[in-house]
Amino acid sequence: MPRLAYVNGRFVPHSAAAVHVEDRGYQFGDGVYEVVTVVQKRFVDLEGHLDRLNRSLGELRIDWPVARNVLEILMRQLLVRNKVSDGIIYLQITRGVAPRDHKFPKSGTPASLVMTTRRVVHERSPNFRKGVKVITIPDIRWLRCDIKSTSLLPNCLGKQEAFEAEAYEAWQVGEDGNITEGTSSNAWILTPEKELITRAPTSEILNGITRLTIIEIAAQQGIKFVERPFSVAEAKAAEEAFTSSATSFVTPVVQIDDTVLSNEPGPLTINLLNSYRQYIERLEATL
Ligand SMILES: Cc1ncc(COP(=O)(O)O)c(C=O)c1O
Repeated sequence: MPRLAYVNGRFVPHSAAAVHVEDRGYQFGDGVYEVVTVVQKRFVDLEGHLDRLNRSLGELRIDWPVARNVLEILMRQLLVRNKVSDGIIYLQITRGVAPRDHKFPKSGTPASLVMTTRRVVHERSPNFRKGVKVITIPDIRWLRCDIKSTSLLPNCLGKQEAFEAEAYEAWQVGEDGNITEGTSSNAWILTPEKELITRAPTSEILNGITRLTIIEIAAQQGIKFVERPFSVAEAKAAEEAFTSSATSFVTPVVQIDDTVLSNEPGPLTINLLNSYRQYIERLEATL
């Protein structure tokens, strides 16, 4: 049985899955997406991801291609048919297929829905044990980074720069010298005063669903937490740092550019990673 993708109402072999050349996602990046992690048949924060999807669609005035509960059923079907118990599901909704024209197509043009899955055993990553290096780069993105748009060119350029510098991630820096977020993750530091800091969820960052769960865990544990901007200099002087996303959980950062923060992941970071793992274990297995 080949791996399947879901494309506009049909489950098709992944190798043959395709959209129309005039799909607005293909031509304009006119669409939104989500990546939901699956661990031992458990969706991690499915409701949070679908809430954010709803928000992104609303901000761009794209209609849901199917009802939310139908989307959930289709997501489960694709994962089960592809026998994915550990991995990710990617889903993308675009403004649909129409003759190329920047303005929106006429009303009634159905949005396109595409989904793919991939098997990943998240715990196999050595990053959790060793920590990673990040580099800092100018944030050259637009002013609506709160929308999870498929227009990801600056993020791709930044991630490639990180790869070429043998780093895991690039933390983007605004014109004011403060770090906004990674190219596909949120940025966190622990100051020498033991304050856990990450950016507030303004339109300058994507409000990560993992970020929100970590904030809840930190609150339950009585960790001093502040949402505020922090500079590159402050990050380099931090006691600990980490980067978070649905696929990288809590990934310890041990080096920023040429500054080594520590030789191994810090204790608060390890504690938050383990608490996040325990949080996942307590979720209901619904696949
Ligand atoms: C730019 C950006 N920031 C933050 C995140 C983290 O979001 P989440 O925790 O929902 O995966 C992502 C995830 O892809 C991202 O692309």
